[in-house]
Amino acid sequence: MRQQAQELVTKLTTEEKLLLIKGMGSWHTHPIERLDLPSIMMADGPHGLRKQDQGGDNPMGLGKSVQTVCFPTASGTGASFDRDLLHRLGETLGQACRAHELGVLLGPGVNIKRSPLCGRNFEYFSEDPYLSSEMAVSYTQGLQAQGVGVSIKHFAANNQEKRRMTTQSVVDERAMREIYLPSFEQTVKRADPWTVMCAYNRLFDGIYCSENKRLLTEILRDEWGFKGLVVSDWGAVSDRVAGIEAGLDLEMPDSRNLHTDLITDALNDNTLSQAALDEAAARVIELVLRAVEGAAQAVELDAQRPECPEELNKRDHALAREIARDTMVLLQNDGVLPLNREQEGVAFIGGFAKQPRVQGGGSSHVNAYHVASAFETATAEGLNFEYAEGFGAADYNYDVVKAQAAIELAQRSEMVVVFAGLPESMDSEGADRKHLDLPPCQNQLIAELAAVQKNIVVVLCNGAPVRMPWAGEVRAILESYLAGEAVGEAQIDLLYGTYSPNAKLAETFPLRLQDTPCFGNFPGGTATVEYRESIFVGYRYYDKAEKDVLFPFGHGLSYSTFEYTNLRVSRKNITPDDTVSVSVTITNTGSFGAAEVVQFYVSAPEDASVFRAPQELKQFAKVWLKAGEKKRVTVTLDSRAFAYYHVGLKGWHCAPGEYAIHAAASSRDIRLSSSVNMQNEAADAPYPALPCYAQGLVHAIPDCEFEAVLGHEIPLANFPSPRTLTWDSTLEDAQQSPFGRLLMKIIDIAFPIVAGIAKDTIGDASGMKDAVTEMPVRSIAMWSGGLIDRRMVEALVSIFNEEEYLRSACELIAGGVRAVKTLVCK
Ligand code: BGC
Repeated sequence: MRQQAQELVTKLTTEEKLLLIKGMGSWHTHPIERLDLPSIMMADGPHGLRKQDQGGDNPMGLGKSVQTVCFPTASGTGASFDRDLLHRLGETLGQACRAHELGVLLGPGVNIKRSPLCGRNFEYFSEDPYLSSEMAVSYTQGLQAQGVGVSIKHFAANNQEKRRMTTQSVVDERAMREIYLPSFEQTVKRADPWTVMCAYNRLFDGIYCSENKRLLTEILRDEWGFKGLVVSDWGAVSDRVAGIEAGLDLEMPDSRNLHTDLITDALNDNTLSQAALDEAAARVIELVLRAVEGAAQAVELDAQRPECPEELNKRDHALAREIARDTMVLLQNDGVLPLNREQEGVAFIGGFAKQPRVQGGGSSHVNAYHVASAFETATAEGLNFEYAEGFGAADYNYDVVKAQAAIELAQRSEMVVVFAGLPESMDSEGADRKHLDLPPCQNQLIAELAAVQKNIVVVLCNGAPVRMPWAGEVRAILESYLAGEAVGEAQIDLLYGTYSPNAKLAETFPLRLQDTPCFGNFPGGTATVEYRESIFVGYRYYDKAEKDVLFPFGHGLSYSTFEYTNLRVSRKNITPDDTVSVSVTITNTGSFGAAEVVQFYVSAPEDASVFRAPQELKQFAKVWLKAGEKKRVTVTLDSRAFAYYHVGLKGWHCAPGEYAIHAAASSRDIRLSSSVNMQNEAADAPYPALPCYAQGLVHAIPDCEFEAVLGHEIPLANFPSPRTLTWDSTLEDAQQSPFGRLLMKIIDIAFPIVAGIAKDTIGDASGMKDAVTEMPVRSIAMWSGGLIDRRMVEALVSIFNEEEYLRSACELIAGGVRAVKTLVCK
């Protein structure tokens, strides 16, 4: 196919190549009809399809999307620790893509949860790179087996929404290799993703990911052997010429003629090679050919799925219920759960019982087929319960009337199930949270209910950890995450014991925001965000600092109990070339059929020359056991399980010595330990002495230690203000000028209107205003669908810089006239 693509490129004119390397509209590639090369369509992803209806393809991609089944988001599927489930999810989504004639689904999101505040954490699997990798590989294999491509995103170190389009992630090489890159690396090496989506932010040397050669070519292709296509995140391109040279093949969405002259000039003066352009065009052709072939080969597979969309949705909804049950984590239970179906005096309280959160806001938002709430399900199943709202699902402030009715109901009930969670605006693309709290109305009411009723179960719907000041006052807590449209059915299945919970946390729930490792360095300054904590992300930090947490990584309860016995390693002495098998017997000692997630952590030997986490997850297995049943679980560890990335050697190194291997029910529930002895030559120390890193004092890392791990000076955290603005500057920066301030006033007025219009397609966007003001000025041209061109953007930038007012105003007026003409001609 590569060869066929290369041959086709030789038949293309330069104009055709330039068309191919940018999108057509928001979601399509350009067809080249004279060569019979069709256009293919992409759509978000990752937990359902956001396919815009015909005609809904407006420049901002905000048209209404078709109705499809909404599956649990990655925060929950990550917690399943279930490779088969991810494979099945990928397969099902692949089939839905085929039914809707999509060539690529834009997911999975494999960024690491660096801070629980990141607004998009619900789209990401874990704080742990191994777990995230395994989930991503299985999802990709499942989906692509259906003849549809994935786009693993957002490459790379895109771990926050604040200033996501411009900030520079300042991350040391070792943290990149050990924490932020592995999910991409493993998916590329093991699952051959058709596409990788580069992130918005700037990375190595402060260069945008969309034009970062080190990232897109040296690491991705030369080191990992990536064969697919690199697509830009939507609107991530600043310098297209540099991007082509760096390895960015396809720019999305359609940038019209924004970059055409510059590319042509660069070709003419040889600052851009023809070979680089050809390569990008060939990769687009190859992607299209792959999709065409995938569709042809999938004909047989297509025959296995219902043809009518309604039937397909029905089938997928049933699967969404099964998947959702495997993604909800039982955080706490003193035995009150499961409830008895015959139980009298049950009260459901909280707006989330009727209006559950099923997904987050932003580009992943699916127009769900049928949202089943707990209220609706319990009613349909004839369960005996009363309901009081207490607080609305979108409420922030305490409402005395609603609360009073709930308290009265709690007083006369025997069992209260509170359905709480985060409002959608707090789990959304484009906006990070500022704190870990649930809305005050919820925390206050739960505390008040606990004062009048001792039997309280809390069911949460949220995409990322929250504080639970009332945890000690309630008997059980079920974390539903954002469990997709079958959320209520799955909640009832678990609450009433039709099924045992069996998921475990893929992230730590901290006690306080101040405890999080990047506290003080998140979200950073106007220019950069410093990843000072380096490899100490999530449990790697909490364990190192011996910090108490609310619920640890890997924690999750079941209705059964499991015993771990007979941990064995296949060999005691190993070298970096060996693998080692680790086996343990798991017995279901309870009376409930259920699954246990067995986790294997490795602890490296004490080594003063390099800081390491006390233990790291290196394998896991999910084992399903009937009551009383036992199974032997065997996993394999290869040298990566013992290695750290040595910046001096520019490679992985296994330090010699004794490594402990733990079989554990959570990162803080180690059941059995064994060890192996690594025989290898010691390497020179990668760093000078770093006392704060050595002790895990990540909140106090001095500049000199951070510079030592970075291997270069720390770039300035903030841009000088005022400064000369460019087209990469944001509307926030532009507020240094009177015209920028005026524009901001206009945005203040227009934003709620646009957010209202977009609600159907991206969910509650009310928290996303900062994302608009943090967009680079160039985005205005991009999102205008060609109405605003480069000259107009440059004129705007001049006005922001308070230069050449007259000429720039004339340019804007002339551009405005051109835009009106274009509109009229349409
Ligand atoms: C998001 C991507 C998404 C794309 C297309 C961007 O804003 O970051 O994840 O795939 O839009 O909707």
